[in-house]
Amino acid sequence: MQRKPIIAGNWKMNKNAAEGAALVEEIVAAVGQDHAVEVVVCPPFTALESVSSKLESSGVKLGAQNLYPEASGAYTGEISAEMLRHLFASYVILGHSERRAYFAEDDAFINRKVRHAIANQLRPILCVGETLEERDGGKTLEVVRRQLEGGLEGVENGDAPLLVIAYEPVWAIGTGKTATPEMAQEVHAFIRQILAKRFNKTAAGKIRILYGGSMKPSNAAELLAQADIDGGLIGGASLEAKSFFELIQAAKQRS
Ligand code: PGA
Repeated sequence: MQRKPIIAGNWKMNKNAAEGAALVEEIVAAVGQDHAVEVVVCPPFTALESVSSKLESSGVKLGAQNLYPEASGAYTGEISAEMLRHLFASYVILGHSERRAYFAEDDAFINRKVRHAIANQLRPILCVGETLEERDGGKTLEVVRRQLEGGLEGVENGDAPLLVIAYEPVWAIGTGKTATPEMAQEVHAFIRQILAKRFNKTAAGKIRILYGGSMKPSNAAELLAQADIDGGLIGGASLEAKSFFELIQAAKQRS
């Protein structure tokens, strides 16, 4: 099954509007018209517009880092899917471990966001992953299953191809520690099995499953060589054009 790899940059709370535009200009220039890898940048809300304006004639796609699952109304501080679509976002990161940990987002709330994103033509990048304590306690697969099943509740079979899943072991995020390619592949294969049960084998075979957690140019090739690792969700290494582009090149070997 041929799946087009995705390299997605999660800028987190970094880059103001001007810095974001400058970074994405460099990325767009480096990528050119090469469409072998799907490249996505996810700036903070305040840089979406400036970044979007630089993407017009490029193949690089825009993603947001969150949304609120209502159309509009009295939700102070929140951003709707429609507002994101208006800025030409096509992806949205949901269920990131930082949102689960710092903002107490649970699977039920994340599930509302996933369904809301799909209903508004935004492709969710649903993040799942275990903490170090959970891994040490032998609970990795149980946690990943719960987050995946909870996050995908009520999603129709026909919408499965819109989904992107990111496996991000929490202990590997921003720590410099990466899961070994074998550890990551084991979980990725497990995720695909769950997706096959939840939807069907054909649909599961089409869903891109990204690895995230200290992915960088020095370790990307061996991670991306694994059968079920279809790309990366990149934090730190997405903040500079050079390292981000090197990751795109690494993913190209897979395409
Ligand atoms: P990192 O972050 O690449 O800096 O570890 C990845 C993520 O949290 O998406």
